[in-house]
Amino acid sequence: MNNFELYNPTKLVFGEGQIAKLKDLVPQNARVIMVYGGGSIFKNGIYDQVKAALEGFSVTEFGGIEANPHYETLMKAVEVIRNEQLDFILAVGGGSVIDGAKFISAAVKFAGDPKEILHKRMSIRDNAIPFGAVLTIPATGSEMNSGSVVTIAATQEKLAFGGPAMFPVFSICDPKVIISLPKRQLQNGVIDAFTHVMEQYLTYPIDALLQDRFSESILQTLVEIGPKVVEQPENYTLASNFMWCCTMALNGLIQKGVPTDWATHMIGHELTALYGIDHARTLAIIAPNLYKVLFSAKKDKLAQYGRRVWNITGNDTDAIAREAILKTEAFFAEMGMPGNLSSQTPDYANTANIIVQRFETRGWAKLGENGIVTPDKVKEIVELSY
Ligand code: NZQ
Ligand code: ZN
Repeated sequence: MNNFELYNPTKLVFGEGQIAKLKDLVPQNARVIMVYGGGSIFKNGIYDQVKAALEGFSVTEFGGIEANPHYETLMKAVEVIRNEQLDFILAVGGGSVIDGAKFISAAVKFAGDPKEILHKRMSIRDNAIPFGAVLTIPATGSEMNSGSVVTIAATQEKLAFGGPAMFPVFSICDPKVIISLPKRQLQNGVIDAFTHVMEQYLTYPIDALLQDRFSESILQTLVEIGPKVVEQPENYTLASNFMWCCTMALNGLIQKGVPTDWATHMIGHELTALYGIDHARTLAIIAPNLYKVLFSAKKDKLAQYGRRVWNITGNDTDAIAREAILKTEAFFAEMGMPGNLSSQTPDYANTANIIVQRFETRGWAKLGENGIVTPDKVKEIVELSY
């Protein structure tokens, strides 16, 4: 096992009816900016619950943060905070709104052009505005991690940043919020969380026995409940387990002491930036092909995953690893994910070259565990995904 440090200051408040606790979680006398997305919160009652809990607080509202939040939109919120001297951000939404809040938090007091935060993939350590979240869609883990992904619309770049000052002070996770989610978003949440675990698990054996079993238990739970929760989001047992899986998949715990990959995400972000494909769907398109192209480096873990998550038996490591990839593809298909890029955009033909060129411009010559995802591999993976 590798050495590690574990730091996670987010207070997670989980369960039905917990949005009412906002009144105790938001600092008294705070001048709050409440940020939200395209308006789903007005239709499903979440807005009303938040407003009721914040009665008596000074709250300025800023809506319209789009899915895959735009730098350009977030900078408008930064202006509001500066002009009105607000000092606490409340994100009410999913990964996009929470990631947006993180960027706003970092940008308000940033000396210089806030685009640098993204272009230099900065680690924000201080000078951030504190923020909390009310989660409305389980998927990203953003409610309990310090990462954020923001799109610069003008240049079609989707870029990540983070840092120890980017943890929410608190996040409220009420599983009941998923009832109003469209099936497509429920499917996305399951597959995003599943792939988060895979990015931190499917590398090579490093004798991290507990971390492996943490990861496998999240994967097994998602396999068990994923197909059901998209059909019955009102089932609290399914909803609560789904939501907790998503948080646990990317709150930092399972990545401690182990190598991580993240190349599926890096390639997937480009597909969203270029063609607007939902985040989770890009992962489903890329991940199995990445496992195929990097088979020899990943086959030991693939076989372990095959045995423990999919109950594949036998002694032939290669055969079990290959079957594990097939099982993964079948699960993604069952969850409504697309199997290839050409089903999502007519413009796919030159995608591999575009992505390789972008990665080379950014100096990303060695992604993945041990830097094994080199530009030639990126090309192969993307072309295999057409
Ligand atoms: O904008 P509104 O109207 O609220 O609608 C949203 C949005 O259209 C809707 N929605 C959310 N909660 C709802 C609801 N509709 C009905 N009922 C509810 N309760 O769902 C749509 C998608 O929302 P979004 O926030 O975009 O989804 P998600 O949570 O999947 O976030 C995706 C973003 O997070 C980034 C992705 O790249 C993408 O930009 N990620 C962030 C990560 C992180 N911070 O750690 C890691 C991830 O790998 C990911 O990259
Ligand atoms: Zn993701």
